[in-house]
Amino acid sequence: WGVDGHRAVGKIAEQHLSRKACQQVQRLLGTETLTMVSTWPDEIRFYPEFKETGPWHYVNTPSGLAHDQYVQQLKGQTSPNAYNILEAKLKELKDPSKSQAEKVAALKFVVHIVGDVHQPLHAGHAEDKGGNDIKVQYRGKETNLHSLWDSGLIDYQGLTYTEMATQYDQHLHKKEIKALQKSAPEQWLWESYQACERLYKETPTGSDLNYMYYPQHAELMRQRIVEAGVRLAGVLNETFK
Ligand code: ADE
Ligand code: ZN
Ligand code: ZN
Repeated sequence: WGVDGHRAVGKIAEQHLSRKACQQVQRLLGTETLTMVSTWPDEIRFYPEFKETGPWHYVNTPSGLAHDQYVQQLKGQTSPNAYNILEAKLKELKDPSKSQAEKVAALKFVVHIVGDVHQPLHAGHAEDKGGNDIKVQYRGKETNLHSLWDSGLIDYQGLTYTEMATQYDQHLHKKEIKALQKSAPEQWLWESYQACERLYKETPTGSDLNYMYYPQHAELMRQRIVEAGVRLAGVLNETFK
């Protein structure tokens, strides 16, 4: 996601933190908040000293995988990706041998990566760079499928991240929140992968996306943002019990 997507995820998570998790997060971040640190991994990724973190934001897999094959792919990939780095950073957060500074950095990555793995195009194919190479026209402007989903649809919506966090959260019931927080990262990515496969199919390169695209996809975008926020709170509540 872009800035507003990540901030909305952070803000929704803050609305679902337990007392204990809230305290531990504050102890680590000081005056910063989950919302404000959510974009940090994007701010650093283009500096040479953080070059290795580029692939930490997504998981590329081939198309046409069934559920079990997909999970096998996730567990089998050994080069750093969003899936195995998220697992590693969550471990670091609980590891007493890690320094405060290491835990702060780990927390920032967790906040960001839980957001990114819910962006369908972050579970795309390597050959088109998760849709970055799929040129499309959106409302008369040149863009690409990845960028449209990172920020194009969110910008078009015209809400601030605070408004997104408030509005998106209103329709959630306790039961749904519980169910969302019971699921694991493999499930989050599987959902993104399935949505991504549909988006690829309906959007060949060169597509001219008209006024129907936003109304037809706004609900999926809204859903992925709110699910990411609620699940982020879930993993932090579990980590800081
Ligand atoms: N951003 C840059 N490369 C990417 C890829 N291969 N998949 C998803 N997002 C990306
Ligand atoms: Zn992206
Ligand atoms: Zn990212």
